[in-house]
Amino acid sequence: MSFLHILKCPNCGAVLVKKEHTYDCPWGHRFDIAKEGYVNLLVHTQKKTGDEDKMVIARHDFFKGDHYHVLKDEIIKIVQKIKPAIIVDAGAGEGYYTRAIAQVYEAEIYAFDMSKKAIKLAKKACPDLDYIVANVFHMPLIDESADLVLSIFAPLGIKEDHRILKEGGYLLKVGPGPKHLYEMKEVVYDEPYLNPSKELVHPGFKKLFDYEIKDVITLKHDDIKALFEMTPYIHSCPIDGKERLFALDQLVVSIAFRLELFQKSSS
Ligand SMILES: C[S@@+](CC[C@H](N)C(=O)[O-])C[C@H]1O[C@@H](n2cnc3c(N)ncnc32)[C@H](O)[C@@H]1O
Ligand SMILES: [Zn+2]
Repeated sequence: MSFLHILKCPNCGAVLVKKEHTYDCPWGHRFDIAKEGYVNLLVHTQKKTGDEDKMVIARHDFFKGDHYHVLKDEIIKIVQKIKPAIIVDAGAGEGYYTRAIAQVYEAEIYAFDMSKKAIKLAKKACPDLDYIVANVFHMPLIDESADLVLSIFAPLGIKEDHRILKEGGYLLKVGPGPKHLYEMKEVVYDEPYLNPSKELVHPGFKKLFDYEIKDVITLKHDDIKALFEMTPYIHSCPIDGKERLFALDQLVVSIAFRLELFQKSSS
């Protein structure tokens, strides 16, 4: 039996204790550990959908090609500089970045996602990590327990991130830069657009840095398809645009990631 002192019961907020097959709270709420090794801590009051399975599988396939390694390497560098003891990946998806960090950096890591499919794939790829089905707007963690929250291409629950971070803890937010996947949009849309760049200001956080990293990648047909299917364009793109894209054998496409680091600070 091992004890995790920072996971809390989603029903009553008491600290959860990990037993062989369950996570238990002292007031009798019990959460089964699935045969795949993850636990579902979503309760009925919280919305129960993450990305569709098809998008999750496409992301998993795409990441096998390591095309976003520039971002992965940059995130690892930042983690190694900050030296957090407890890391939370809020909206971890199928776990590409979480497991990359775990391979080179020792920390207690909790990865949350609302998609069961994503958490199953993540746990299979890295069985030693704590992957939990949970909502980033209601994380099952006690107050002021984390040193670093990662929010990578995921919905940002900034109030919740502030609640779970220790004073002086960090929030790393990663999203698309203006020209991320621009050449793909040139193929699928009649009028491709730049991704908007919003300014995020939140009381209790000061911004430490904000920069972009860029690369150009060359994708073959299967990876073009997987990339398209893991993005929101799958829902908004015209059918002829999709057909044009899927007819390509190769696509040279820009990738651009905006990284923002915030520190929790009461002053
Ligand atoms: C674009 S994916 C990014 C996943 C991962 N961070 C990555 O970069 O590969 C966004 C993820 O957020 C999850 N998600 C969406 N809403 C969520 C919520 N409220 N709580 C937890 N996860 C959520 C989706 O299921 C999906 O896996
Ligand atoms: Zn409870």
